[in-house]
Amino acid sequence: MKKYYHQSTELSYPIYWNVISKHYILRHITKSTYGKLRNLLRDLRSEFMSQNHKGFYRCGCYLQRNFYIAELNLHVNYCDEDSFLKHNAEHLKCMQLEQRKKILLNIKEEYMRRVNIDSDARLRGRLIQQQYVPRFKEVYELKECYLDDEFIRLVEHAKAPGSTSSSILRLLKREKAPEVYRMKVFTGDFCEKLLLELDHFNQTSLPKGRPNTMNNSGILLEEVGYYEKFITPLREKYLNCIASLLYPDWVGDGLDSHKAFTVQYKENEDVDLAQHYDNAEVTLNVCLGKDFDDGSLYFGGMRKTQDHSQPSEVEHVTGEGILHRGQQVHGAMPITFGERVNLIIWMRSSSVRNKLCPMCDNTPDLVSSFGFGDGFTDGGSDTVQMCSLH
Ligand SMILES: [Fe+2]
Repeated sequence: MKKYYHQSTELSYPIYWNVISKHYILRHITKSTYGKLRNLLRDLRSEFMSQNHKGFYRCGCYLQRNFYIAELNLHVNYCDEDSFLKHNAEHLKCMQLEQRKKILLNIKEEYMRRVNIDSDARLRGRLIQQQYVPRFKEVYELKECYLDDEFIRLVEHAKAPGSTSSSILRLLKREKAPEVYRMKVFTGDFCEKLLLELDHFNQTSLPKGRPNTMNNSGILLEEVGYYEKFITPLREKYLNCIASLLYPDWVGDGLDSHKAFTVQYKENEDVDLAQHYDNAEVTLNVCLGKDFDDGSLYFGGMRKTQDHSQPSEVEHVTGEGILHRGQQVHGAMPITFGERVNLIIWMRSSSVRNKLCPMCDNTPDLVSSFGFGDGFTDGGSDTVQMCSLH
């Protein structure tokens, strides 16, 4: 398998500064903290070097494919300004000069976000770890009392010898959309506390990353410290066994990595989400609540099938999760009032995606990364349009 090694160790070092907002610098960086920050950057650099070989990778297509232009509801490829303008001339010709400039600027920003994604995330994570004081420390560690009794019974059943896909289906609420399942995941009390904690973090001036290529508002949970003791055990001990029975072809040898984030929908901010598929084999989407009207999810067919049937709506209920295949095309309708926050866990199976990158449909060209990257490993076989979410 071909490997590209990210040049981030060299390139990203000076660009680390991008992730610290001007506002943050003016408020917090004094002469003495400058020294600390310089040490932090040095640590990050060596951390990057040491973590480069931990085993998870991205596909090289990440830097060039699936750039979302909200104004046109279109995903495009980007490699440089000239080829972008040439290849998209037809789409851009009806737009005003100012609009075209804005689109190009957004694409360039998104390109730089991707070039620096791992180093920027590490820097933000480190700053948060050093400076953020949580309001509720206890919500960073998964406890069984946070989980709904029905969910625990479901997991016990999935782990019991002799359980099959048909036996677990009897315990699940099936949605009209094919192979989309609803399950109670968290208690109401836990959702409330988690929302308060996330709000508490949002109110700080600490730097925040963008959850994915299409959502603007939300929190990357790795950066705030939710992976090791919360999301990873949730995937390994609870979700993997359920998904293995429901989607054996997508789980393969197991869901061995994830990307988890929250998304926030609010009037005058993100109100909906265009049709897309996820960079995941299996997705869990849990509504954490707040007061809102409308904004249901909708599901169509799998991305590679020509399914022209009417999409099926799936409504949000606080504490309940919707489990679906990442490649099933879906979107979120506009909320018409209030605010909604959802926890999204994109679960990846390296044994499945190593064969084909779901974002480019080719054998993945492995690019080294921090942490879970995009869930590819180099132990697999010879190795992945429409809207898609990275
Ligand atoms: Fe999605």
